[in-house]
Amino acid sequence: MAEIILGVGSSHGPLLNLPPEEWEVRANFDRAQPELAFRDGTYTFPELAELRACDEFIDQCAIEVKRERYVQCQSQLDELGAQLRAADPDVVLIVGDDQHEWFFEDTQPAFAVYCGDDVQNLTWSEAARAERIKVGRGGDLYSYRPENDQTYPVERELAELIVGAAMDAEIDVAASMQQPTGPDGIRNIGHAYGFIYRRLLQDKPIPIVPILQNTFYPPNQPAPKRCFELGRVIGQTIRDWKSDKRVAVVASGGISHFVVDEEWDHKMLDALAGGDTATLINEPNIMFRSGSSETKNWITVAGIMSETTSAMELHGYVPCYRSEAGTGSGMAFATWR
Ligand SMILES: [Fe+2]
Repeated sequence: MAEIILGVGSSHGPLLNLPPEEWEVRANFDRAQPELAFRDGTYTFPELAELRACDEFIDQCAIEVKRERYVQCQSQLDELGAQLRAADPDVVLIVGDDQHEWFFEDTQPAFAVYCGDDVQNLTWSEAARAERIKVGRGGDLYSYRPENDQTYPVERELAELIVGAAMDAEIDVAASMQQPTGPDGIRNIGHAYGFIYRRLLQDKPIPIVPILQNTFYPPNQPAPKRCFELGRVIGQTIRDWKSDKRVAVVASGGISHFVVDEEWDHKMLDALAGGDTATLINEPNIMFRSGSSETKNWITVAGIMSETTSAMELHGYVPCYRSEAGTGSGMAFATWR
């Protein structure tokens, strides 16, 4: 039977891919947003800055602080990547979110499992690169996508087993049997997967299984409880798989962003590390909005790991602030061993 050898949780936000001298670009992006989600409220940037004025984020945005936090994050990513590569898995199952990369307004599945033979990560087109910079998202381009088009192998047999097991468990997942195409050709694999393959695996050609969760877009985001339940089914499916393969599982994304909420981050991370499933699955859906919604990818991995003897160990938590309203990303890096 196959074996789950390692679980990994890693943030993947843009500040991990931008030198701290350029974080202000993303602060300007925040300032231009009509709405920012924070806890159960929605605010304009000036409203948020007023609400959080007492927290004095100016000091957190000093360039020396940004540089220190950036270095901490890079060393965490280096270490996580080294551990993942040293574990030498035969398969890496990545739980990520689709952020209008494969699925759009026409159909957005709550959960999808990609069951193709391989998947492409294409370099940025000149038009996409120019558009990204024009809208103020900065030059965080190469950590998600390669400089030359890449084809990653997919462990199709396991992906199809997971679809079958989820259906048997009455969790009706979508099956994506072929990489979607749009008006511009193949739709690229999402940033949540590209980041793990490039930054942690360093393009080592290990077969992956992409699990796509709709954490971002109303009205059909799965509840945290449902994510945990899907995770349990995935974990059981791996353990029942008639194969001698060694599988690593990775949660990609989170924790709070693009408004940093250290208190909430600690609540979620403490619950993950303590195996406190009740706290995770009872957290109201409204707390999982915008980038913070990606924390559900960690909850699914907690479900996968729940019937193993591995507990989550938090290696590092780094709050990366980029504006006076406390926008930025709460970055976390962890393993289940
Ligand atoms: Fe993301």
